[in-house]
Amino acid sequence: MSKKIILLTALAAILAATPLVKAIAEEGGHAAPAHQNWSFDGPFGTYDRAALQRGFEVYRQVCASCHSMNLVSYRNLTALGYTEGQIKTVAAEYMVTDGPNDEGEMFERPARPSDHLKAPFPNKKASMAANNGAYPPDLSLISKARHGGADYIYGILTGYAEPPAGTTIMSGQHWNKTMPGHIIAMPPPLADGQVSYEDGTPGTVDQYARDVAQFLTWASEPSMEVRKQTGTKAFIFILVFTLVMYAIKKKVWGNVH
Ligand code: HEC
Repeated sequence: MSKKIILLTALAAILAATPLVKAIAEEGGHAAPAHQNWSFDGPFGTYDRAALQRGFEVYRQVCASCHSMNLVSYRNLTALGYTEGQIKTVAAEYMVTDGPNDEGEMFERPARPSDHLKAPFPNKKASMAANNGAYPPDLSLISKARHGGADYIYGILTGYAEPPAGTTIMSGQHWNKTMPGHIIAMPPPLADGQVSYEDGTPGTVDQYARDVAQFLTWASEPSMEVRKQTGTKAFIFILVFTLVMYAIKKKVWGNVH
């Protein structure tokens, strides 16, 4: 067989398998969450600082009663556009355990900017005991840990609905359009008007979900903007370099026929 035929056969096999792979991926109702428009989409996309700050408010007023974010410290929030003073004030609203002191005792003190965001439970077992045995995962990297990232988080938060007729839901479980398998142990966390935004943005479930999804994406990928800028610079450099080399080549070899 010639190489061409082998290549064509391989291509045909890949094309034929695509619907099959898609069907397998969607099995169990695991359809990809619908894509939303995000300011951080695309090669030049950046985070929307106002949305990140609103998202942090949603996290700390709602999600933080069940979910930790152990990889984020208060001082990391400077990236959201807060001043050092604002961060000190926010941190000081939380009491954390420190120690031992000279008497060997642990003690409580207000959090400092260098502390990690205060976790709602002392350990995983305690968080499960408080949630009917379900584990509310740490949200620091959730946007990377779930296929679909921000779209998935938005999809979960806005995906609660009545279960289709014939589906039995056990107590402590909820039907959710985006959750793989459609059964989730997290009660719908958001309701209209639950968090009042200082910038006057309307407080709707849709808006909260969008903002907190963006905030959690930032937490998973805080250096995304730098990465994109570096990529653009590298690309421009290579382009200019290629043009210069081409001009040099022309000049050097111009007289050779
Ligand atoms: C009352 C406690 C509670 C609150 C409040 C809460 N969650 Fe959850 N969350 C849970 C539990 C429990 C699970 C595990 C669900 C499961 O495994 O079925 C979970 C799971 C999740 C998941 C992962 C779903 C998956 O794919 O496994 C995400 C994402 C999530 N929560 C985001 C949030 C966000 C964002 C907020 C705030 C708007 C929030 N949660 C508020 C308890 C809570």
